[in-house]
Amino acid sequence: MTAYKQTLSFRVFLFLLLMVPVQITLTAAQQSPQVSPAGQKCLDCHESITPAVVEQWRGSRHAAARVDCNSCHQANPGDPATFDHYGLKIAVIVTPNYCARCHAKQAKEFEGSHHADAAKFIGSLDNVLGEVVEGGPAAINGCMQCHGSTVAYRGEGKFDAANWPNSGIGRINPDGSKGSCAACHGRHAFSSAQARQPENCGKCHMGPDHPQIEIYSESKHGIQFRANLAKMNLDSKNWIVGTDYYSAPTCATCHMSATSNQPVTHDTGGRISWTLRPAVSVKLDNWEKRRAAMKDVCSNCHATGWVENFYKQYDLTVDLYNEKFAKPAKALMEKLYAGGKLTRTPFDEQMEWTYYEIWHHEGRRARMGTAMMGPDYTQWHGFYEVSKHFYNDFLPEAEQLEPGITKSVLATDWHRWKAGMKPEELKQILEFYQQRYKQ
Ligand code: HEC
Ligand code: HEC
Ligand code: HEC
Ligand code: HEC
Ligand code: HEC
Ligand code: HEC
Ligand code: HEC
Ligand code: HEC
Repeated sequence: MTAYKQTLSFRVFLFLLLMVPVQITLTAAQQSPQVSPAGQKCLDCHESITPAVVEQWRGSRHAAARVDCNSCHQANPGDPATFDHYGLKIAVIVTPNYCARCHAKQAKEFEGSHHADAAKFIGSLDNVLGEVVEGGPAAINGCMQCHGSTVAYRGEGKFDAANWPNSGIGRINPDGSKGSCAACHGRHAFSSAQARQPENCGKCHMGPDHPQIEIYSESKHGIQFRANLAKMNLDSKNWIVGTDYYSAPTCATCHMSATSNQPVTHDTGGRISWTLRPAVSVKLDNWEKRRAAMKDVCSNCHATGWVENFYKQYDLTVDLYNEKFAKPAKALMEKLYAGGKLTRTPFDEQMEWTYYEIWHHEGRRARMGTAMMGPDYTQWHGFYEVSKHFYNDFLPEAEQLEPGITKSVLATDWHRWKAGMKPEELKQILEFYQQRYKQ
């Protein structure tokens, strides 16, 4: 035998030796963890009917803790959407009330959050857009898949296709509870690790009107996250920033997860001081307390001066957007409505679309870009678009409806440049381009 062959056969021997215990563990894992007799019944059938569901569950912390199919699906007394399923009374929808059997704290915090109320958008302009301007199915498969539908039960475990399947964050369930815990904890693994991943939030927090995932991905935080994914320890039971991981924050780190000073919260609004959603941003109630909670997160990785200055930069950006663009634009719209130059029907006039995009898309991007350190969203997807459409579409459209109406806006310090720059200023700009590009 050559030396090579000897090593090879020794390797094969070692391999076989190692395989024995591996095989024993595998057979143990393939067997179900001990479960209740009712839970075992579910497994007996579902192992062949929905094998993937059973496998997902088997790998979960629930299975290890003997939380079985029946622990979750067993009918709650007050729930109208339950049925007799081979002698076992179950519900298909495992609502937050069901999870609350064991996770009362998380369910209560979630119930008090904006997330739980996300299906309440009937009175909004966005709803007119979805339901009327676009049409019903657009709202069902668009708006409601993020915000949540009102689920209607048809009996025998069946639901109305107009609002089911749905995992929107504020889904209104047949038992009156709000939300879907599976919106973040994908079934049937129900893992914390998944919920800590930015992509998880990105199903909904994306696109032209709230591009948080895009902003995050281009930020230093997103870059560090990708570069250090292996060190993020996402699977850890506790996930305390600075203790269990240190490389980068994810959405969950800043908005939900624990620090050494504060516990996990399922109220995602608890650390936010401004609301960036409306046409004009306002500070929330108790904003100082909320901001302090967020600063506590940052302080694990940054010095006080860095964080304080970040918040100064952020406040100045929101003030700029509010004072220079949002307030004058809002006031002009109100004048045009009051004077009958615009009808009260939303979206029937060009100018209403122009205004909507300025605040609802571009103005949000400008503010959100700064809030989460994505400079391209602050600038090119944000303030650039706001300025372009404010000066070239919004103001001219207002002038057309009521000549002279924009004069007072253009006379303010913010907008005076439009009447002409000083020769010294112009000279500087022209010289810059001449020197740099020879043109
Ligand atoms: C005797 C076999 C059997 C037993 C026992 C059983 N199931 Fe089922 N289950 C089925 C079959 C068959 C379906 C239908 C699958 C389909 O529609 O493709 C089903 C469907 C379901 C559905 C989906 C219903 C829907 O319409 O969306 C759920 C949820 C469910 N089972 C949960 C359970 C749970 C929890 C248990 C134990 C408490 C259980 N099942 C016990 C056979 C069984
Ligand atoms: C931790 C709670 C929990 C456990 C444990 C659990 N489920 Fe579920 N199950 C859910 C949730 C939540 C949904 C999704 C319904 C919803 O959106 O609320 C669901 C949905 C289902 C569906 C419908 C899925 C579809 O896509 O049609 C089936 C079938 C089902 N479960 C079977 C099982 C079986 C079988 C087991 C045991 C292996 C099990 N479940 C264990 C919570 C649970
Ligand atoms: C891709 C998922 C998604 C879709 C589709 C979607 N939204 Fe939203 N919507 C969100 C998110 C996420 C927010 C919160 C953004 C934030 O806080 O920055 C939001 C915010 C809102 C708000 C503001 C809520 C408040 O408290 O101020 C309204 C109203 C709204 N959406 C209605 C709608 C309507 C109506 C539609 C369909 C025309 C729709 N949305 C489509 C994800 C979505
Ligand atoms: C917006 C996304 C989101 C939703 C919706 C959500 N969770 Fe969580 N959940 C998380 C995140 C992120 C973590 C991990 C926190 C951490 O870093 O430890 C978590 C962790 C948990 C844990 C582990 C213990 C803990 O508190 O850390 C439980 C239990 C839990 N969630 C239950 C629920 C229940 C019940 C619901 C529905 C009422 C729910 N979650 C809805 C994101 C969510
Ligand atoms: C019968 C009790 C029970 C029910 C019902 C239940 N859970 Fe749990 N859950 C547990 C236990 C026990 C653990 C802890 C396992 C551990 O510590 O390892 C757990 C852990 C978790 C975790 C953390 C998993 C991880 O990766 O760290 C999440 C998330 C979670 N549950 C979500 C849910 C959701 C969502 C529901 C409803 C759809 C639900 N649970 C229903 C008992 C339950
Ligand atoms: C299934 C869709 C969906 C998912 C997934 C989701 N969100 Fe949201 N989120 C929304 C909607 C819709 C709103 C707006 C609710 C409203 O005000 O009507 C919102 C609002 C928020 C707000 C503003 C809350 C406030 O009180 O002002 C924050 C912060 C937030 N989400 C963070 C997160 C984080 C972090 C995650 C992931 C761990 C996440 N969301 C996952 C849909 C989602
Ligand atoms: C480094 C921490 C950090 C990370 C990472 C982070 N955020 Fe934020 N987020 C903030 C701060 C700071 C604000 C502004 C808070 C304020 O107004 O005081 C904010 C604001 C928000 C808002 C409120 C917007 C509104 O309409 O008022 C939402 C929604 C949000 N973040 C979601 C997310 C999502 C989703 C992710 C991941 C894709 C994420 N955040 C990542 C720190 C973070
Ligand atoms: C888990 C650690 C961690 C947390 C928590 C964290 N950051 Fe960072 N932050 C970093 C890292 C790492 C960098 C990148 C440093 C570098 O390489 O330049 C960074 C960069 C930054 C930058 C510079 C962005 C740029 O483009 O240069 C700002 C501003 C910032 N963080 C603010 C914050 C704020 C505000 C918070 C809290 C809302 C926060 N960070 C939370 C780790 C963190």
